[in-house]
Amino acid sequence: MTKPLLRSLAGETLPVPPIWMMRQAGRYLPEYKATRAEAGDFLSLCYNPDLATEVTLQPIRRFGFDAAILFADILLVPQALGADLWFVTGEGPRLSTVTSRADFDRLKPAADVHETLAPVYQTVRNLAGALPPEVALIGFAGAPWTVATYMIAGQGTPDQGPAHALKAEDRATFEALIDRLTEATIEYLSAQIEAGAEVVKLFDSWAGSLRGEDFARYAVAPAKAIVAALKARHPDVPVVTFPREAGEGYIGFHAATGADCVAVDDSVDAEWVADHVQPAGCVQGNLASRHMVSGGEALVSEVRRIRDALSGGPHIFNLGHGITPDADPGNVALMIETLREAS
Ligand code: CP3
Repeated sequence: MTKPLLRSLAGETLPVPPIWMMRQAGRYLPEYKATRAEAGDFLSLCYNPDLATEVTLQPIRRFGFDAAILFADILLVPQALGADLWFVTGEGPRLSTVTSRADFDRLKPAADVHETLAPVYQTVRNLAGALPPEVALIGFAGAPWTVATYMIAGQGTPDQGPAHALKAEDRATFEALIDRLTEATIEYLSAQIEAGAEVVKLFDSWAGSLRGEDFARYAVAPAKAIVAALKARHPDVPVVTFPREAGEGYIGFHAATGADCVAVDDSVDAEWVADHVQPAGCVQGNLASRHMVSGGEALVSEVRRIRDALSGGPHIFNLGHGITPDADPGNVALMIETLREAS
């Protein structure tokens, strides 16, 4: 019996869509906080295969999701390329910056990322042997544009201003960085697949700030290159893309990139997605994360509305973005129970 998540990714319309949740291993769970404290800090957790395996499994045990997502971070790839990376508690990531050709020239070749990332592959191997048989294992990486926005600014930015500035002022260096990240991402995701990942997802959290030709060149083209390279090496492994806040850009994204599934955020209506995106293939999403904080009748009716709107085609139920630390685990259980109720 094929796992439900893999059936949806193969294009089947299931009576109850499979469900998992972005950031399902995270600070809203007391057991996550305990394991993170044991690791000492976030990066030590990412690079400790035993503890990273444990936090990946915690939401599976507690809630019975249909998929586990490898516990790691999109910013491990810049670190593997030679950038300094650290996390400031309460503020987020900090990196050494890439703002000139000289900075770019100090980065390592894409083929060298495996040395740093080897513990992540060990986590994948552990998970492949530890998951219940019906639960699928998802690997992931950041998309080149989103990762570049952090590498150029050295931190998260509200408008990705520094990355847009480098693109305008030194396009050759900007494009060299996108190309290096594209190659590194192919290396990284291939290695995750070889270690046992059954699906891979590309997170392009800041795709929505790319407009017009820039969206085609820096969101669509890198995703297409990554999907093509992965399909050449691992034709049976489905790829999910998440060009967050792409809006109209979601239309045609399956065909333009070759992705098996397009994940959508909650700025688009499920009914619109059913009409304009789902005819091209499987979609994932798109409950607003705030319902995991507020719960109640609004949560129940939104879960039913999204499930029903997308019931005519392949669908993986998820949030529109990651669950937040102030969420109530009881609301996660209510979301799953509502989704799986007899409809
Ligand atoms: O989804 C999962 O559960 C798998 C693990 C995962 C994490 N980060 C763990 C994490 C995944 C898939 C990511 C992706 C990621 N990381 C993205 C893309 C998705 C998105 O949310 O837009 C981005 C932009 C990052 C970079 C990053 N990592 C930021 C900006 C932060 C700080 C913000 C925050 O929430 O604190 C992180 C830290 C991070 N990554 C945490 C987790 C569980 C919190 C760290 C902690 O425990 O303190």
